Amino acid sequence: MSIARNILLWASRNRWLARHMPRFPFVIRAARKFIPGERVEDALREAGSLGEQGISTIITFLGENVSDQVEVEAVARNYLETLNLIARNDLDCHISIKLTQFGLDFDRDLCFTTVDRIVNRAADHGNFVWIDMESSEYTDVTVDIFKRLKEKHSNLGICLQAYLYRTGDDLAELLELDSVFRLVKGAYREPGEIAYPKKKDVDENFFTLASMLLKSSRSEELVHSMATHDSALLDRIDQVARDMPQSHSSYEIQILYGIKVEQRGKWVKEGRRVRVLISYGEAWFPWYIRRLAERPANVWFVIRNLFK
Ligand code: FDA
Repeated sequence: MSIARNILLWASRNRWLARHMPRFPFVIRAARKFIPGERVEDALREAGSLGEQGISTIITFLGENVSDQVEVEAVARNYLETLNLIARNDLDCHISIKLTQFGLDFDRDLCFTTVDRIVNRAADHGNFVWIDMESSEYTDVTVDIFKRLKEKHSNLGICLQAYLYRTGDDLAELLELDSVFRLVKGAYREPGEIAYPKKKDVDENFFTLASMLLKSSRSEELVHSMATHDSALLDRIDQVARDMPQSHSSYEIQILYGIKVEQRGKWVKEGRRVRVLISYGEAWFPWYIRRLAERPANVWFVIRNLFK
């Protein structure tokens, strides 16, 4: 892993930086490339405009490692209202949540019951909930809670990370649940004992897992998601999909707001399904630094904003 990436991932977990850096206008300006604003209305506005371009969306309320019950309830109310607003605006827009926003660190029952409420509300509106995958200390418990929720709900999918050695086994087991998955490379700093240290091995594992997912696709309604901006990898995956009966529509490309903006239009023109994840909320700093870590060249963009 590059030194720049390591420093940025360290910075993404630093509480002092998270408290102080978001006050600087040049940081806010630079972050706007990836986050349209702090309010849900900002995210919904962008979802509406992407919808007009034939692009589906996912909204996520930024924040992680919530440490008390009052805050968990506030996050829950935020998502419940967001689901109402998505329905009112008639958007093809899922939501994506992190379990540590719902008390996973201090009360797993509270986490389960709160997420259960949210998935219920989503079902009332015919909507869908994605569970993000956080760092490896949470993988077991996230998979467990997902399995329990899956017993009650069908409108639920989970993210799996190709950089973890265990993911092939997790996927083989979870495919039995008749679920859909979002495959990502993985965004956290993980030790070599549990995760591929080399990017080329992560990419290869992504391809293997993606091929497994494509072969398991059953419906055109709910398809697996390949969440990466890696166009070459996506083209390889598309070659596999072309041999499937549903071809392009047997999977969905998921990307982050502000990345591959030109390319996503081309994908839509080619008939490929694209869904953009839009984030909002005040707690954007750690999330934003992880985006810089994925492409340290983005740091120049921050520096350029310093002089604007
Ligand atoms: P890679 O990093 O190899 O990048 C491939 C190419 O994409 C780059 O060469 C560049 O052109 C472009 N690119 C990538 N990142 C960029 C950036 N920040 N700015 C500009 N260009 C960029 N992770 C996780 O651990 N848990 C999760 O729940 C999720 N959820 C999630 C949802 C969605 C919809 C997406 C797209 C991603 C995630 N991730 C995630 C993040 C994921 O693990 C990964 O860190 C990022 O997607 C970056 O890796 P790529 O797959 O894009 O490949």
